[in-house]
Amino acid sequence: MLQTAVLVSGRGSNLKALLDAKAAGRLPYVNICCVISNKADAPALDIARAQGIPAIAVPHKDFAGNRAAHDAAMVQELRRRGAEFVVLAGYMRLLTPVFIDAFRDRVINVHPSLLPAFPGVDAPRQAVAAGVKIAGCTVHFVTQEMDGGPIIVQRTVPVRPDDDDLTLATRILEEEHQALPFALDLVSRNRVKVMGRRVIVIPGDSSYGELDRAISAYMPVLVATGNHHKVEEIRHILAELALSWLTTDLFPNLPEPVEDAPDFEGNSLIKAREWRDRSGMWTLADDSGLVIDALGGRPGIHSARYAETSQGRIDRVLAEMRDVPDDMRTARFICVVTLVSPDGREFIGRGVCEGHIAREQVGAGGFGYDPIFVPEGFDGTTLAQLGEYVKNNISHRARALFVLKPILERLARRQL
Ligand code: GRF
Repeated sequence: MLQTAVLVSGRGSNLKALLDAKAAGRLPYVNICCVISNKADAPALDIARAQGIPAIAVPHKDFAGNRAAHDAAMVQELRRRGAEFVVLAGYMRLLTPVFIDAFRDRVINVHPSLLPAFPGVDAPRQAVAAGVKIAGCTVHFVTQEMDGGPIIVQRTVPVRPDDDDLTLATRILEEEHQALPFALDLVSRNRVKVMGRRVIVIPGDSSYGELDRAISAYMPVLVATGNHHKVEEIRHILAELALSWLTTDLFPNLPEPVEDAPDFEGNSLIKAREWRDRSGMWTLADDSGLVIDALGGRPGIHSARYAETSQGRIDRVLAEMRDVPDDMRTARFICVVTLVSPDGREFIGRGVCEGHIAREQVGAGGFGYDPIFVPEGFDGTTLAQLGEYVKNNISHRARALFVLKPILERLARRQL
């Protein structure tokens, strides 16, 4: 149970929506442990009291303008009530670092606009004045920035030609009453991952049908690579699956894992496990390389590090192969793809693309060693000349992914 406090300042219709959702069994993992207001006469406190929920006033007036001291008193009260999570439901005070730091990443707010448009007060009025055609509401994590912070759920509301701020605000409020319990349910089910400014919602159970489908139709899978070419190929190869391929760019400033295993399998698993542990998500990693017989298997697992630049790596291989006769230029691309689950299951697919090393580089497509690799059966054409459609059917990466495809299909259907 997520022990949740609701902070209010006024009418309390969002608080009521939360309590109604709870009573209807739609917040099964949430316990509303207390309601706190900065105003002793807030009607919202009466709504809480009527349901036997501890309702406490911590009036900001008592703190003579000292916001930090008021927030410290709020935090103390929240701790006393055992609150682990805080929902701002019409709480009309900016929080200071005293509060934000005490409940870092554990405070959400509902705001009556499609943020980042129209932060601050009177958002529906701002929307009408700006003449927008679509308004709405946002549930977001609270940071120091006013009405900033990573967005969990948004709902849209069309603006009618005859709308004024009141009529629009009323319709927006109806959406808030759906969005806020839904967002809290998601958090309480651990389905929300904050990654920088983005919130990824993991598909799963809830009783919020259409709202849920609108936000989490595609199962996210993190691709454990900084190489965008690889991610693009994976997207292309598995385009028909209802999966979202996320990149490690979502985690800025984290170092690449150390790939010190002796083979592709080992290095692929190192990357997948490390990024899975960091993200808590289903994670897919690939380790691949070019294995050249005449070079005793080099560059092999060192393919990406064989020289500083991509061109440097091609030049080095061509130089090392200069005196190797045509019939001894056999080579293969090998790829090992690993898929690991948040709860520790691991799936491995291996793909090989046989061919030979060309005498010179040809073609501008693909990446890496593609311009010097001629796959078997393609009449001297390099992988870089074949175009992405053909490459993505015959490549080592495609073949490794095809091995995992039945598993990935089950994941997309959420049957894994
Ligand atoms: C809502 O419009 C909410 O978006 C904003 O304040 C209002 C609170 O309404 N933050 P209520 O007190 O929940 O009825």
